Amino acid sequence: MRVLIGSNSQQVARIAADNVLSALPEPGSTVRQVLGLATGSSPLGLYRELGLAVSESRADFSHTLGFALDEYIGIPQTHPQSYRQTLITEVCNVIGLRPENLFVPQGTGNSVIAVQKAADDYDTSIAAVGGVQVQILGIGANGHLGFNEPGSALRSRTRIKRLASKTREDNARFFSGINHVPTHCVTQGLGTILEAGRLVLVATGFGKADAIAAALEGPLSASCPGSVLQLHPDAVVVLDDAAASRLKLREYYDDAAAGISEEHLVVL
Ligand code: F6R
Repeated sequence: MRVLIGSNSQQVARIAADNVLSALPEPGSTVRQVLGLATGSSPLGLYRELGLAVSESRADFSHTLGFALDEYIGIPQTHPQSYRQTLITEVCNVIGLRPENLFVPQGTGNSVIAVQKAADDYDTSIAAVGGVQVQILGIGANGHLGFNEPGSALRSRTRIKRLASKTREDNARFFSGINHVPTHCVTQGLGTILEAGRLVLVATGFGKADAIAAALEGPLSASCPGSVLQLHPDAVVVLDDAAASRLKLREYYDDAAAGISEEHLVVL
């Protein structure tokens, strides 16, 4: 795992964007880009940086396929707070990913079985395009990844989940009161997320410090779903000082972030 700590939110966004772009096939390559998308506040700066890269011809998402992490159950796709609409506004309109190339788990259906069947099909459709190359992630204050709440199976697949009370409280800011926040969602499973080629997680602020410490330095445990980052061979975690404030290994991360060059190969 690489832990990179930026000194301000713009630096965090830039570091995260660089780590997204460097793991995607070059625009124009015969391999189509497949990007995993998170909603929420954490990656907004990262999306702005990707938009800047497009405007400077360093990136092109016009043929990229985007797969969302999750969607609420119980609100229509057209609801302004549905993750489909949110991603159209906050990602498609910013980085030039076409709405027809945006795939979001289906949170509506005639029966619970139909919604779960669509969730199964979602994993199949990710696999059918060769898998997500880079998955963008935030983390909940309770350690959730996607909407895999504490207690989620570490190898879970895309499925229906009950939202934790803490998550509903945290997301009430986007709705007109907690009673309007859905109780359930469809989320990519932790096992699904772990299949992406690279994970890039962004977290900022003191409110994330405990979750980050538990995810990066605590035991691998369903009690902190974010701890599955420890299982991934190419996980990049980009933090500000506040989100990094409870990390015990901060000094090591800073030393390691400087990288290796030929001078380190000189035999002492
Ligand atoms: C978003 C998602 C969540 C958020 C997390 C952090 O699709 O699945 O895991 O990443 O709740 O949200 P913010 O960034 O708003 O603090």
